[in-house]
Order: sequence, then structure tokens, then C-alpha cells
Amino acid sequence: MSASTAWGVIGAARIARQQVIPAIRRASAGEILAVSSASGKAHAYAAEEGIERAYGSHEELLADPDVESVYIALPNGAHAEWIGKAVAAGKHVLCEKPIVTDPADLAAVERATANAGVVVAEAFMYRHHPQVAELRRLLTDGTLGDLVAVEARLHFALDRREGADDIRLDLAQGGGSLLDVGCYPVDLFGLVTRAEPDEVHAVAVREREGDVDTRFAGALRYGTAVATFDCSFDAPFRNTATVIGTKGAVTLSDVFRADRHGGTASLVLETETGRQELAVEGDQYAAEVSAFAGWVRQGRRDEADWALTTATTATLARLAQAAA
Ligand SMILES: NC(=O)c1ccc[n+]([C@@H]2O[C@H](COP(=O)([O-])OP(=O)(O)OC[C@H]3O[C@@H](n4cnc5c(N)ncnc54)[C@H](OP(=O)(O)O)[C@@H]3O)[C@@H](O)[C@H]2O)c1
Repeated sequence: MSASTAWGVIGAARIARQQVIPAIRRASAGEILAVSSASGKAHAYAAEEGIERAYGSHEELLADPDVESVYIALPNGAHAEWIGKAVAAGKHVLCEKPIVTDPADLAAVERATANAGVVVAEAFMYRHHPQVAELRRLLTDGTLGDLVAVEARLHFALDRREGADDIRLDLAQGGGSLLDVGCYPVDLFGLVTRAEPDEVHAVAVREREGDVDTRFAGALRYGTAVATFDCSFDAPFRNTATVIGTKGAVTLSDVFRADRHGGTASLVLETETGRQELAVEGDQYAAEVSAFAGWVRQGRRDEADWALTTATTATLARLAQAAA
């Protein structure tokens, strides 16, 4: 039987409606008891999504004693504040990526959670797809040899019609392509290298001076391995990665959003012995909420998962600085 927890959803968000609420139900990872919205959307959202309790403020949801864990789906710039308040209220927290926009805020979360005895985790769902376990296996069993290079990209076409109000284009909300989509390749680099980079270089494109980046590229060095990525709001959807070692290479054609193809991911492995294609199926959002509920039930976070969150937060800040 899968682990479960009693959930409250903070923010009447698109991602919660489209992915995470259905995933909690698919995974039997607990009951969704409540939703809160600071902009008056809670009652309609609760009715549409079949959620029992609707709150007009996030504080009211945090005061609900039946809510054990919260899923925070607010704009990036609001994550740190609401993680802090949720932890202070004794709630476990699954927070959308990127967990915070400033490493100092993550250090504060670390201090607060150590005292509160709750679990905080970042909602990087791709980490939970079995293709990532397969990639880890190829790296650790010697199939790929020593790591030489990683390249990854994530692009999509953001709706820019006039009047389209999007937190991704709002600097004050922690918008920009690096934080919205570039965070995935950067997280993958940390997952593959289990390290923080020794060197970081970056370039950004902005439509107006001082505004959010809408296209971003980075080149990083992790010991003797190099890593490159690009991302944007301006191209048809693309989410690929290639990991190259001294003995072979593997290409993952849907590394971050395998769910767009029913959960099936393809890995193409090329070594001296030939070319092999593997199809790996998984439900990454369901696996993410199940893993989180399991950590809550065990009363402890997954240290490797948290170390990756720490590395990614620090690396994103260095990349933003490098392109400033
Ligand atoms: N893991 C994934 O696959 C995935 C995919 C997409 C997004 N995300 C992440 O999920 C989070 C939410 O993204 P989303 O696309 O779902 O966002 P969204 O629906 O546009 O907004 C989410 C919530 O943020 C609040 N909000 C929106 N605009 C605001 C503004 N201008 N000022 C203050 N608050 C505002 C609203 O909360 P109230 O209801 O309280 O008003 C809204 O319900 C982000 O951190 C994003 O990076 C993750």
C-alpha cells in the first residue's frame, strides 16, 4: 500500500489542477482536504476540483489542524515566505521548483526545518521518472565510463498575446527562463555529477534592459566534466539531454516531461558494442507525490534529494549572477 498524507494546496494554481492534484489521487498519496487562494479563487477552484474546504487566505489553510502537508504552487518569488510560514505552522511542505530564488532563503528553510521536525522537498518531478534511475545505473555500473560532458535543453513557446498575464514574465515574481525552465538542466547536472560546479559561465537575452531573461545559455565545469544547456520561452517544446562518458553516450529525448507522451521515455545508448534503444515507462508526478508522502510517513527527508536541491539553488544563483 502506498504512503499517504492529508494535503492542503496553497494557491489555486494551473500546475496543481493539471498535474499534482490528479497525481495525488492516481497515486493514492492521500486526501486533498483544502485549497487556499489569496485572490478569491478558492471556492470556485475547490468546487471544480472536488476539494472539501476552501480558504480565502493561506494563513487559514495553515491553521487547519487536519492539514498535515501542504503543496505550494505559488509564483517562485513567494515560495520562501510560504515555506517559512508552513514550517512554522508544523506542516510538511512539497514546494514547486525552483524551491527558492536565493540560497540564503534555503539556508533559513534548513534552520527552520531542523527545529520543526517536518519534511520539506522540492517538486522536481522528473527526478522520480524511472528513466532517471536507468541513467544513474548507466553512470554507476561503468557502462558510460567516466563522465566527459552533459548537454541538456528545455524550451517551450510561452503565450505572449497581449493581456496574457504570466508570472514567468514578471521579474518581481521570480520569473525568467533560467528559473522557470533552465532549472531543469541545471538540476540534471547536479544529479549526474553529485557536485556543484567549479566554474560557471552564462549569457542571457532580455527583451527589455533589466527585465526577465527569456533565453538563457550556460557552460559549467564540474571537475573534469563539462556541462552546457540552453532554454527559452520562444521555441516549440523540446526537452532533451545527452550524457557522454569515456565509454559511451546516452540520449534521453523526453528527459523532463515524459508525461507529454503518456509517460514513456526513450533512452538511446551508444557504446563500442553498438546502439541500443530502451523504452522506460513511468508516472513521474505520481511517483513524486508518493515519494514525498513516504518521507512524511518515515518522518525524515531524503538526504540525497535535499543535497540536489541545495546544489541546484546555489548553481542557479551563480548562473544568474554570471549573466547579470
Ligand atoms: N513541476 C511542473 O511541472 C511545473 C509546471 C508549471 C509550473 N510549475 C511551478 O509551479 C508554480 C506555479 O506555476 P503555475 O503556472 O501553476 O502558476 P499560476 O497558475 O499562474 O499561478 C499560481 C498561483 O500563484 C498566485 N499568483 C499568480 N499570479 C500572481 C501575481 N501576479 N501575484 C501574486 N500571486 C500570483 C495565485 O495564487 P492565489 O490562488 O493565491 O491567488 C495563483 O493561483 C511555479 O513555481 C512554477 O515554477 C511547475
